[in-house]
Amino acid sequence: MKIFIDTADVAAIREYANIGIVDGVTTNPSLIAKVGRKFEEVVREICDIVDGPISAEAISVGAEDMIPEAKKLAAIHENIVVKVPLTAEGLKTVKAVSQEGIKTNVTLCFSATQALLAAKAGATYISPFVGRLDDIAQEGMTLIQDIVDIYGNYGFATEVLVASIRNPLHFLEAARMGADVSTVPPSVLGQLLKHPLTDIGIEKFLADWETVPK
Ligand code: G3P
Repeated sequence: MKIFIDTADVAAIREYANIGIVDGVTTNPSLIAKVGRKFEEVVREICDIVDGPISAEAISVGAEDMIPEAKKLAAIHENIVVKVPLTAEGLKTVKAVSQEGIKTNVTLCFSATQALLAAKAGATYISPFVGRLDDIAQEGMTLIQDIVDIYGNYGFATEVLVASIRNPLHFLEAARMGADVSTVPPSVLGQLLKHPLTDIGIEKFLADWETVPK
């Protein structure tokens, strides 16, 4: 499973990229707003840090505006993946720009039927939001299993990118289900890395080492 980091915080991106575990980055307008910097400046900086797919989201509503916006975003850097919403206008955009070789990430997916339509339109990635489904008492991870099964049934090339991950169990289940990518917030990446028994083990090894005659 590929690991993308779900943030526009360049310090966090640098921290985890330096460990060697980041395959790509996803951003959205809320994550960009959080860092309080100009959109294009942040996206360019991210592209300099991580050599992998970097999702940048279009904010247009209609395809007539979204298509030129997608082209503009894609022109920022060769690794840019244009994020579009799972609407009729978003799918029209996917269809149009994918023919020109532009990669797309269809976001705000909340049902398996939506995911099937996005694949049909030619999406590079589909982003089902598991945490936001859990928030309304629907099991987000069931959606991932459904999409993995349906894409498998028909051999769609669209990659399943698990988004809105809120805890290590989302990540674990995504890997068990064979999702292609998980996009993980820095805080959850930290949780995935740490284990109390590792820390206790290091402490014990170091303490015992002190007693070894030198
Ligand atoms: O990339 C979009 C997604 O990960 C949003 O997560 O926590 O705002 O539902 P969240």
